[in-house]
Amino acid sequence: MSFTFTWYGHGTQGYLIGKNKLVVDPFFTGNPAASSSVDVIEADFILVSHGHGDHVGDLEKLAKATGALVISNDEIARWSEGKGLKAHGQHIGGGYQYPFGYLKLTQAVHGSELPDGSNGGNPAGFLITTPEGQKIYAACDTGLFGDMKLIGEEGIDLAVLPIGDNYTMGPDDALRAVKLIQPKHVVPVHYSTWDLIQQDANAWAQRVEAETKAKAHVLKPGESLSL
Ligand code: NI
Ligand code: MN
Repeated sequence: MSFTFTWYGHGTQGYLIGKNKLVVDPFFTGNPAASSSVDVIEADFILVSHGHGDHVGDLEKLAKATGALVISNDEIARWSEGKGLKAHGQHIGGGYQYPFGYLKLTQAVHGSELPDGSNGGNPAGFLITTPEGQKIYAACDTGLFGDMKLIGEEGIDLAVLPIGDNYTMGPDDALRAVKLIQPKHVVPVHYSTWDLIQQDANAWAQRVEAETKAKAHVLKPGESLSL
């Protein structure tokens, strides 16, 4: 068994774990890098890392169309419930067992205000342990922090890291993150959506493979990786 990761462009991610379809940070409408329209996306669970518009843009539409359970910090979960969505709130450091695996919210160094000005709580990343014991770390929007080493101690099969700079880690800090996390595989995201976060992901991947033991996978929006 394995899981399949799909990069939809920018920070938007899909995971197929067993029969469970997860979407992380749904942002299709108005996303210049989006590989598809939100109308064709299927989801059983929608994970929201923080409140920024480029992460919650299609949350309400996708959740209403699919009936998916929204999983986020408690502030965003309650905000989602206020829109009539089903939601489960967690907080950083806390884990919960779902059908797709055990999900722990990790720290992220970033902001989280929601588009309507509501308090989006603290930003988070996601650490998923699949039923087969594979470990996925989606850092989501964050700067580099030293406790990535602690996350790495769990033994990460796939790390999904931002490299865009300006709003999140840039390539240099993302390379340092790989050294702290020591994942088997790494995929860069949250870059080249706009000029402001334009990056050469292939050059970054070459540095990762020269300086670490991780295998770097540069995907085009819409492409998938099965591990
Ligand atoms: Ni953000
Ligand atoms: Mn973002």
